[in-house]
Amino acid sequence: MSERTILRMGDPRLLRVARVVEEADWSSIPELLEDMRDSMDAAGGTGLAAPQIGVDLRVVIFEVAADRDGGIEVPLTVLINPQIDVVNATLEPGLEGCLSVPGMRGVVDRPVAISYTGVDENHQSIHRQASGFHARVVQHEVDHLDGILYPMRIKDLSLFGFSDELTQRPGT
Ligand code: NI
Repeated sequence: MSERTILRMGDPRLLRVARVVEEADWSSIPELLEDMRDSMDAAGGTGLAAPQIGVDLRVVIFEVAADRDGGIEVPLTVLINPQIDVVNATLEPGLEGCLSVPGMRGVVDRPVAISYTGVDENHQSIHRQASGFHARVVQHEVDHLDGILYPMRIKDLSLFGFSDELTQRPGT
């Protein structure tokens, strides 16, 4: 196990469209997931995408604590080759942060309900419905696989700033 350096916004590796995990890549997945968990835990994040530690593969991990989403807890989830379908396209504003944009927060509009699919570390299919913070986390992490960082989705930059300075917190 090893904690890896988390790339910060400005590093061009965060802007790549990550590669689909293919059969030949699976041998590297256990070590990658261990490094991702260690790096996320050390940094205190809710989720992490492989490109954030410089690995060009479509792999994300995330978890949602019970106190973040009206009591709905989502255990640590590994999603490989995720796909998202929007179930309810109504946009909802919510505050986001990112380990690649340390110290900052910003309000991003996202669809309120999605379904998502992928496979876990044991090749088992995952198919879930998600709303609220859970849906936001998944959308944020999958954006990383397409080279999108949340500040690129902020429509009103007056709602973007340093965490300890922000006083407006719509959506939270
Ligand atoms: Ni992020």
